[in-house]
Amino acid sequence: MKTKAYVSPELIRLDIEKLDSQGDGISRDATGKIIFVPGVLPGETVLVRKTTEKKDFATARLVEIEKTHPERVKPFCPWHERCGGCQIQHASYPLQLMLKEQFLKDAFSRIGRMLPLEGFSRVAASPLESGYRNKISLPVARSENSGTLEIGYFQKRSHRVVAIDRCPVAMPVLNEILKEVRAGIAQVGILPYDERTRQGLLRHVVLRGGQETGEILIVLVVHHSPDPAITKNIICLARRIRKRYPQLLGLALNFNPAEGNVIFGPLTKALSGRAFFYERLADLTFKFDATSFAQVNTRQAERLYQAVANEACPAIGENVLELYAGVGTLTCFLAARSSRVVALEEWGPSVDCLKENVSRNSFKNVRALGGSAEKLDFSTVGPIDSVVIDPPRSGCHPDVLDSIAQMSPRRVIYVSCNPSTLARDVGLMCREEHFRLRKVLPFDLFPQTCHVESIAILDRGSSS
Ligand SMILES: C[S@@+](CC[C@H](N)C(=O)[O-])C[C@H]1O[C@@H](n2cnc3c(N)ncnc32)[C@H](O)[C@@H]1O
Repeated sequence: MKTKAYVSPELIRLDIEKLDSQGDGISRDATGKIIFVPGVLPGETVLVRKTTEKKDFATARLVEIEKTHPERVKPFCPWHERCGGCQIQHASYPLQLMLKEQFLKDAFSRIGRMLPLEGFSRVAASPLESGYRNKISLPVARSENSGTLEIGYFQKRSHRVVAIDRCPVAMPVLNEILKEVRAGIAQVGILPYDERTRQGLLRHVVLRGGQETGEILIVLVVHHSPDPAITKNIICLARRIRKRYPQLLGLALNFNPAEGNVIFGPLTKALSGRAFFYERLADLTFKFDATSFAQVNTRQAERLYQAVANEACPAIGENVLELYAGVGTLTCFLAARSSRVVALEEWGPSVDCLKENVSRNSFKNVRALGGSAEKLDFSTVGPIDSVVIDPPRSGCHPDVLDSIAQMSPRRVIYVSCNPSTLARDVGLMCREEHFRLRKVLPFDLFPQTCHVESIAILDRGSSS
C-alpha cells in the first residue's frame, strides 16, 4: 500500500542510537517504537516531526539538532539534502569509516548470526574522498515546472529527479562533460522517457571514464531507436563536445525497452567514435565495454584486487576458480600470482572484454568462460585451491554456494559491495561447518555514501 506523505505538527525529541545500513538514524519514542531519521548521527539529540506512521515503526524529518556529534561536518555538495546518493556526507571522513565498520559488523551479527565477531579489520580509507567516481548514471525526466528536460539524480527513496549540474564525488572531467551534455541536449530534440506513461525516449545519461588513461565515453540509454533527425543531432552534439574535449572517445546509444530499475539494456551501438574505453590498473590495461561493470573508484579498486590476489594465492602454484569475473580486472591480478585461473562471467559484452583483456595483458594461464555461475558444471574446472567470488549486490544463488561447498576448496575469497548479502551467504557457508570465517577486510570504495566493499576470507571447515 502506498504511504501518504504527511508531516506531523507535533515536535518530538529523540536520542539517536545508531545508523542503519541506509545511513538513517535509529531511535525510539516514549512507547519504544522505532523511528528512522535521515541526516543525523549516533549520539545526537534531535527534534523531529514524523513523516510516516506504521504499526511497527515510523519515519521522521529532522527539524533541529539539540546535541551535535563532534564529528558532524558541513556537506560539500549543494544537493546533499535532496539527492539520495551520499547518505553520510555530514560525517567527517574518519567517522564515516567507523560507521561503515559498524554497518558491516551489524550485518554479520544480525543477518549472518556470526558471533562472536572476530577477524574484522578497520575499513581501509580511500585515497580520494571526493572526485573519485569514474562513472555517473543520471536519470532524465521532464521538469514539473518548466517542462524542460532535467538530468540529475533520483531523490532519496523516490523516482523524482533532482536536477544537478555537477556531482562532487565524480571525476572533475565527468562534471565538465556533463555541463556540455546538459547545455547541448535540449537542442537535440530528444524527449525524456516517462516510466508512468511509457512515452518518450531518453532514460539515462551515463558518463564513464578511465582515471589513468583519461578516456571518456558518453552513453545515452534510450527506450527505442531515435528517428534519423535526432540521431544526426546527437552525432553533431558529440562532435561539438569532442572539439573541446578530445579525450571524449565515443558516444554510444544503449537500448533498454524494459521496465524496471536496471539501467542498461542488452544492445549498444556507437553513434560517434567507439562504444568502449580503456583504463589502467597497476601496470595492466583493460578494455571496458560501455555497459560492463567497473569498480567506480579505480585507485582503491587496485588495492582491493591486490589484497584479494594475496589472499587467494598465499603460495606459488595455486589454482583459482573466479566467478563473476566482469571484464577480467581481478582475473589478471589473480593470474599474476597463480598457476592457473578459470574465470567465469555472464554478461556477453563483458565476456568479450574478459577474453581480450587476458590476452592483451599476456596471461597464458587463464581459461575465460562465458555463462552463469548457477549453470557451471564445477566438475569440469579441474583441481582448485581457492574460489574467488564477486557477485552483484544480491549475492550468490544458493546453488552456487552448494556447488562450492561440494567442491571443497582450501579457501573461499568472497568480495562484496553489500554487507547484508555477504553476511547471509557467509553465514550459510559456515553453518554446516563446510567453511570457517578467518577474516574480513573492508575497503572504502564509496566515500560519502554508506556503501561498504569487503573481502571475507573463509577456510575449509571440519565437515568438508
Ligand atoms: C560486482 S561485478 C564484479 C566484476 C569483477 N570482479 C570486477 O571487479 O570488475 C559482478 C559481475 O558478475 C556478473 N554476473 C551477474 N550475475 C552473474 C551470474 N549469475 N553468473 C555469472 N556472472 C554474473 C556481472 O555481469 C558482473 O560483471
